[in-house]
Amino acid sequence: AGTIAVTLHINGTEYNLQIDPRVTLLDVLREYIGLTGTKKGCDHGQCGACTVLVDGYRINSCLTLAVSYDGEQITTIEGLAEGEDLHPVQEAFLHHDAFQCGYCTPGQIMSAVGLLLEGHAKTDADIREQMSGNICRCGAYANIFAAVRELCN
Ligand code: FES
Repeated sequence: AGTIAVTLHINGTEYNLQIDPRVTLLDVLREYIGLTGTKKGCDHGQCGACTVLVDGYRINSCLTLAVSYDGEQITTIEGLAEGEDLHPVQEAFLHHDAFQCGYCTPGQIMSAVGLLLEGHAKTDADIREQMSGNICRCGAYANIFAAVRELCN
């Protein structure tokens, strides 16, 4: 019952979907399209594991309905690397060992990419504030901060 047609542009690929208008962007990414790099931590906007970019801006994909992104450009963690070449944020996370279990890492990396695109993080306090929507249960914050700090220099 009641599905509607939506076109999403995800990591440069166009997806023409027929979806329930009540489904979140996160569930469309993971369940309909199979892009499971984007994680579901809390499913209510508190952990940041589901962070993706829409036209370069960070959103919590668990809080948003997929239908509201008809025609928009969405970038997920799977869209960052170019072939064998990792994105600079991915390289920095590796270099600084900025994870333990890795569950929050896609969201942390997407948030850092968004932070850099937004370009408003000038100080250490700015970085901490602008990364504060991404929770890490392992407490890898010091290394995550170091990775993002390096890229803001
Ligand atoms: Fe979306 Fe936690 S899963 S913020």
